[in-house]
Amino acid sequence: MTITYLGHAAFLLSGEKNIIIDPFLKENPQAALTVERLPKIDFVLVTHDHDDHLGDAVTIAKKHNATLLAIFELATSDDVRQSGIKAEGMNIGGTYRQNNLAISMTQALHSATLGDPAGFVVEMEGKRVYHAGDTGLFSDMALIPKIFGSLDIALLPIGGYFVMDVKQAAMAVKLLYPKFTVPMHYNTWPIIAARPEAFLKACEPHRVKILRPGEQVVI
Ligand code: NI
Ligand code: MN
Repeated sequence: MTITYLGHAAFLLSGEKNIIIDPFLKENPQAALTVERLPKIDFVLVTHDHDDHLGDAVTIAKKHNATLLAIFELATSDDVRQSGIKAEGMNIGGTYRQNNLAISMTQALHSATLGDPAGFVVEMEGKRVYHAGDTGLFSDMALIPKIFGSLDIALLPIGGYFVMDVKQAAMAVKLLYPKFTVPMHYNTWPIIAARPEAFLKACEPHRVKILRPGEQVVI
């Protein structure tokens, strides 16, 4: 599986299926790809309804006839229904399955207008990716690998102010025990300025891979 960082909290997971998470591209000053240049997308995952996560989700789902996966209240909202896209409303603790693909929804400590904020664990080709969404630190993160199995990669916010800062995200790594971590949700705007090198140092001996928007990693 190839994981491409598209900037902010947006990632493209490419494998048996192409999955885009929190596709905030058009208004994202860091965006590494435009909506027009995306490969064929099968699933659009949205952690919560804030603009910097919902972003271009509906446009992308419509263009690619992809399925939107989100918390029930968002997936069944008037805007999503009226768009005519395929949408599956799920909730925390649940798993959407299709062949060998499993997409589970996890808790996130944050806010949202429609339903609760969430994170996702995506299992594809035998690899497990955790996207934390927007979240503060919570000790039950330790349950995530216990429930879903060990994590190959964790995508964690480090920018502070709206989410975990570097110190809290490094504590999260010690609860999650992923093979390695990619920091996200920082430096998009000055209010979420953070130093990923400081995060890397705070996580030692756990491994951190800093991706610039557009860079990718193969797991
Ligand atoms: Ni948010
Ligand atoms: Mn956010």
